[in-house]
Amino acid sequence: MSRLRLAILISGRGSNMAQLIAAAADPAYPAEATLVLSNKADAEGLETARQHGVRACAIPHAEFPDRKTFERAVDAALDSANIDIIALAGFMRVLTPWFVQRWGRRMINIHPSLLPKYPGLNTHARAIEAGDAEAGCSVHWVSEGVDEGDVIEQARVPVQPGDTPQSLAARTLVEEHRLYPQALAKACAQIRPRRAS
Ligand code: GRF
Repeated sequence: MSRLRLAILISGRGSNMAQLIAAAADPAYPAEATLVLSNKADAEGLETARQHGVRACAIPHAEFPDRKTFERAVDAALDSANIDIIALAGFMRVLTPWFVQRWGRRMINIHPSLLPKYPGLNTHARAIEAGDAEAGCSVHWVSEGVDEGDVIEQARVPVQPGDTPQSLAARTLVEEHRLYPQALAKACAQIRPRRAS
């Protein structure tokens, strides 16, 4: 069976991206890492992807007059690489309904909270502030509302006494790295190659 062609969209460090690339290096994994795109030219993850032999390029959003033209450029790059599935991995741009509808049930995201709790930013600080006993991360389908799509899988981590947003983020990131490849494989089972649809 042919593997799905995966694009990973990043904005920075790309540690989740690196985990997906590592998982996809196994020929038995249901997706192959085909393309990495960043909306920032200086994203650290671009170089990491290239070191792993994955094509990586920047489409800097700041060089486009508006969100629409930026997204059209991203869409064209995905189309020309025959991408089947998109994994957002620390991609810090909100996508318009046009893009979300176009890629519909072919796009997933990782978010560092137990959704539906704490969509948006500063999730760890909000969990500590609220006195939550546990935090975690979620992989979900991307829908038009930010961090609102159906959850595919979650992982939980304890909030420990004295935790700072940084210490909780570090503990959560370990779980993100384990969760994302597993949840992506699960998502792949639900979609067909685009070129065949
Ligand atoms: C991760 O915590 C992810 O959940 C969030 O942004 C962070 C990205 O980290 N959306 P990295 O770029 O994958 O290292």
